[in-house]
Amino acid sequence: MAYLGIDLGTSGLRALLVDERGEPLGSTERHYSAAHPRSGWSEQDPADWVAALEGAAEELRAAHPEFAGLRGIGIAGHMHGATLLDASGAVIRPCILWNDTRSHEEAARLDATDGVRALSGNIVFPGFTAPKLEWVRAHEPENFARIDKVLLPTAYLNLYLTGEHFADMSDSAGTSWLDTGARDWSEALLAAGHMRREQMPRLVEGCEAGGTLRPDLAARWGVSPSVVVAGGAGDNAAAACGIGTMNEGQGFVSLGTSGVLLAARDGYHPAAETALHTFCHAVPARWYQMGVMLSATDSLNWLARITGAKPAELTAPLGETLQAPGRVRFLPYLSGERTPHNDAEIRGSFTGLGADTSRDDIARAVLEGVAFGLRDSHKALAATGLRLERLMAIGGGARSRYWLKLIATALDVTLELPAGGEFGAALGAARLGMVASGAAGIDEVMTPPQVSEEIAPEPGLVPAFDEAYARFRAAYAPIRAIQ
Ligand code: XUL
Repeated sequence: MAYLGIDLGTSGLRALLVDERGEPLGSTERHYSAAHPRSGWSEQDPADWVAALEGAAEELRAAHPEFAGLRGIGIAGHMHGATLLDASGAVIRPCILWNDTRSHEEAARLDATDGVRALSGNIVFPGFTAPKLEWVRAHEPENFARIDKVLLPTAYLNLYLTGEHFADMSDSAGTSWLDTGARDWSEALLAAGHMRREQMPRLVEGCEAGGTLRPDLAARWGVSPSVVVAGGAGDNAAAACGIGTMNEGQGFVSLGTSGVLLAARDGYHPAAETALHTFCHAVPARWYQMGVMLSATDSLNWLARITGAKPAELTAPLGETLQAPGRVRFLPYLSGERTPHNDAEIRGSFTGLGADTSRDDIARAVLEGVAFGLRDSHKALAATGLRLERLMAIGGGARSRYWLKLIATALDVTLELPAGGEFGAALGAARLGMVASGAAGIDEVMTPPQVSEEIAPEPGLVPAFDEAYARFRAAYAPIRAIQ
């Protein structure tokens, strides 16, 4: 028996085939791009996702005979995107993506509407779905009038696979139309965004069966027509399933393009004022909270671009021995910031530069700035009553030993490095497919990977980083005032 996990990313789709124990059989990727018709705009053609999914499935089918025993599929993907369908099921316009900020005014207006934060549990960020629809209503009324259904990217692939409109709650929580505590569409939130319940997909839990594979697709892929498609999940909820972050006290830090500090919650503890995201988890009666910083490895990549060095060449000279924070401070807001500032306009800055400042000092300041940005999220989680002592560390940035020691010390937490192998969103999605098809229970399959190494804070340096963090925090307001 085999299960397919799909991670529909912003720059490409990853497909992972696993066996009945959840062990990888094979994987492949397909790439596509986003269009940026104007500054701050970001759109994708849903046909590209379908082509990527088809190509990836075809390749896995050809390479792995086990594909014929497919039993379950789970789709995870980038959240918040608005895929608009007319009554015939045709896509009305390109999907407006999570990183598109054109609707910041609509977001601010919705966010200030009575009851919206309380019901959705979140700030209405410009990237979320409801403000995108308000933008379409104002700027493309002819498109708005044709909308029969609004689907998130993962739900669009669910529709392609099954012919049915369904979405899971973890992804749907990022729309600002969901009552996140009640795990249901909210009439009041829908009305605030000029939407109707019948324009929404049916809601299922991420690990619940949403439908079965279309018979024509099953025939083409040479698999049983009873293959189950799970509700699926937003990318971070799926990553949490992949790394076994399911229960209170478990969390991970992801050092990717953006930086995410995510904690599983047994209950619903919204804290919109902290700019944390509070979303449903992909399994029943669980939620998760996360702080999102928009430029994590992106900050280092930017420095690499302008200095002509590779990121690893910038971090290597720092060695592995953590130094006390330097005099140069970097505010890592190259693309604005979500947690804790909810500020799409702020941009990054350096302070404390001297004639003697070297490239290594700048590189160190960038790593420190990102670590302090993550500390902001850690602090916001602490404000909800959650003290995380240990975090799994994942993502490309986790390859820098210096950065890991720095983050452990700046946050005063122990970081755990997973042993090699699969633990990302595609694995989480495959696990959702396993649970939805009845092959395994949640606790049985959503387990953490082996830990290969622990990185503990440097106790002697914690006070110096506390002090530097206070200066980092104090720098935001004056920099904001002059930008
Ligand atoms: C969450 C968010 C990301 C995107 C892209 O709010 O914006 O998870 O789904 O990764």
